[in-house]
Amino acid sequence: MIRESYREMTDVQVAEAIEAARRTLGNDLTILGHHYQRDDVIRHTDFRGDSLELSRQAAEARDARYIVFCGVHFMAETAAILCAPEQTVVQPVLEALCPMAALANVPDTAAAWEALTALWGDDVTPITYQNSVAAVKAFVGQHGGAVCTSSNAARIFRWGLERSGHLLFLPDEHLGTNIALAMGIPPEEIGVWDYADAPDPASLAHCRVVVWKGYCYVHTTMTAEDVARARAQYPGAIVVVHPECPHEVVALADQAGSTRAIIEAVEAAPAGATIVVGTEWHLVNRLAHEHPDKRVVPLRRVGCKTMGMTSARDLLYALEAIIAGTPQNVVRVDADTAHWARVALERMLEASA
Ligand code: 13P
Repeated sequence: MIRESYREMTDVQVAEAIEAARRTLGNDLTILGHHYQRDDVIRHTDFRGDSLELSRQAAEARDARYIVFCGVHFMAETAAILCAPEQTVVQPVLEALCPMAALANVPDTAAAWEALTALWGDDVTPITYQNSVAAVKAFVGQHGGAVCTSSNAARIFRWGLERSGHLLFLPDEHLGTNIALAMGIPPEEIGVWDYADAPDPASLAHCRVVVWKGYCYVHTTMTAEDVARARAQYPGAIVVVHPECPHEVVALADQAGSTRAIIEAVEAAPAGATIVVGTEWHLVNRLAHEHPDKRVVPLRRVGCKTMGMTSARDLLYALEAIIAGTPQNVVRVDADTAHWARVALERMLEASA
């Protein structure tokens, strides 16, 4: 929601007003932002990070009464679950959802769980990607499982496989497949759970890992042909991609990792290097500007529409509402859901400490 008067303001005036609001709120405020946020928003954050770093920050930033979270809804929800009860989490645009997170709900998860536990009894652990709704995190917490992010997924998969012979991973087929293959699990032991057309559970009996048939619409636009084209266009280039990309893309890349790992790969590349980056465009564009001594190009220029929904004017509105004593777009998670989702998130934080 944007006040009518903001439309009259120039971008510079909006940026100045945001900084003035930050000064007014002082230590009562912390602004967190994901790397995929637009530049006009990310420049005002106190902390920017990947999903794991932002979760840690939300769990540890105890001084601020208000956490304004610039990202998509599962991230703000996670902050609301991990922060202290006296803290308030505001998401400037509540409608900014992650389309992948919307691909798994509790009834579908319960149906998959029922089928897999009928096969394997309690010899299966559920793991949900951070990119999931709070209710799914709670289901996983309640059934002995944990959350993971792209930066600790291998560690959490190992944690799960120490507890049981099988894993159910949701909701990203590609991240789950990439991690399982990187851990040496053979492709024939990785099964797919199509929630829209549930498979005969007996067809999965030989699997160690079952991955949900969900996907990120940004990363799945990236193809093996894109990598081949980039390598032909930029001989000697380093290709770094996000593990939400399909396996054939990850297999052809030099590195795959979280947004933080991607940033570190660009930082580590020598001056003059060309780095082809397979992830959301706002981050790739920022890296290109921040590293003028290197050539940083997108594997494919695709932005995440919902990550891009939060504008500087939305952030200003959120801050002014807090100053007025009437915070808007407060993120709330009911107590029972928050309890079990916190269990799953804390297992992740402990296992990846
Ligand atoms: P990261 O944990 O790598 O920041 O990933 C977040 C995300 O949503 C990728 O689509």
